[in-house]
Amino acid sequence: MKKETIQPAKYLTGAVEVPGDKSISHRYAMLAALAEGTSELRHFSAAADCHSTLKCLSALGAQVKIDKDTVRVTGHGTRGLKSSWRALDAGNSGTTMRLLAGILAGQNFASKLTGDESLQKRPMKRVIAPLREMGADIRGREDNFAPLEIHGTQLRAIDYKMPMPSAQVKSAVLLAGLFAEGVTTVMEPARTRDHTELALEEFGAAIEKNGRTIRVHGLGSGNGSAKLVARPLDVPGDLSSAVFFIAAASLFADSNVVIHNVGLNPTRTAILDVLAEMGASVHMLGLKGTQGEIVGNLSVKGASLKGGLIAGEKIPLVIDELPMLAALGPYTEAGIEIRDAAELRVKESDRIAALAENLRRMGAKVEERPDGLKVEGRHSGKLHGAEIDPRGDHRIAMAFAVAGLAAKGNTVIRDADCAGVSFPNFFSELNRLAER
Ligand code: S3P
Repeated sequence: MKKETIQPAKYLTGAVEVPGDKSISHRYAMLAALAEGTSELRHFSAAADCHSTLKCLSALGAQVKIDKDTVRVTGHGTRGLKSSWRALDAGNSGTTMRLLAGILAGQNFASKLTGDESLQKRPMKRVIAPLREMGADIRGREDNFAPLEIHGTQLRAIDYKMPMPSAQVKSAVLLAGLFAEGVTTVMEPARTRDHTELALEEFGAAIEKNGRTIRVHGLGSGNGSAKLVARPLDVPGDLSSAVFFIAAASLFADSNVVIHNVGLNPTRTAILDVLAEMGASVHMLGLKGTQGEIVGNLSVKGASLKGGLIAGEKIPLVIDELPMLAALGPYTEAGIEIRDAAELRVKESDRIAALAENLRRMGAKVEERPDGLKVEGRHSGKLHGAEIDPRGDHRIAMAFAVAGLAAKGNTVIRDADCAGVSFPNFFSELNRLAER
């Protein structure tokens, strides 16, 4: 378990690229494994999570060739997956487990999906329930947790009104819908990231979107396309990883950072609106469309952050960025308050508890609540370095590395390797940009 020591910085300067988007990489890899032929996926995420997906797909009979950040996945068509004699290991990745559950439910073989200690504690009932409505034979420990046993079967299309806003649940149902008879409809209670819809379209599935209602035609249903087609695709950089550099640069008046080739899909950019409202100086440059997604560069300068309240429908759109926002709280004028985010308690760690504990270790004043937290602003004093326990959670480790840059004294991040779940060279890139 490696420790990283973060020394205070004066400012951040330079250009940086972030790994390919994690959410998009998972989806491209899965659909490529269901397509006929070889899909070349460029700038594929270096995240351990996405490599868990690749290992599962390879165990299911897809050919996977990795050459730096280019991944070639050869699929054998929508009926081309084969049963794996060993359990499929999703590692730390909720997206791998929940999306694959949707695909595996419609196969003509049985599978077992497992994951690491953290993933085995995360709720799976949210995908088990709708998949069962589609006729899936799927079982979990206590009917909610991995390992999941899935006996593939012929699925039927459903109209599913999602009880919670979750892109993973939506995606599990849409992917299962490919293997169902008829047209599967999903209605979301609030907008969530739409990478699955865009990727399905890219690979040639028949999909329609109308507001928060999405319909996918089963591949065998006669109406839509009967197969998926292999594609060369470029994965945009991961905005959720870029956010750590945006936050770090914002902390110092003299910062000047450019982040290249970042995915700026409107279902992901709410974080940039939140930061802009707080006074951050972030500008999008050179926007262009690529295979349904949007990419551009981000120019970030130092700013004085006001802080504020994040709640309601915004929450699902910034869910992965909330750890970074909360850790910025003590550096803002009015502090940061997060409400309606109980979902944070069932992420890779209980993020509300992990944030409260580690912020307090650094001297911040924090009120922890069931659905969020309130972090006091600058007036309550400067943070000091401390030893941080990220609880094995990549986003907690990275958020506190950033907070440590502006603290008094050194900050030590325990078990810092966990950042590799989404961003393997995060610490070296952060150190490269930080002037001391
Ligand atoms: C993801 C959806 C979100 C997000 C996760 C990735 C995805 O989870 O937190 O990191 O790729 O679909 P939920 O769908 O559970 O909100």
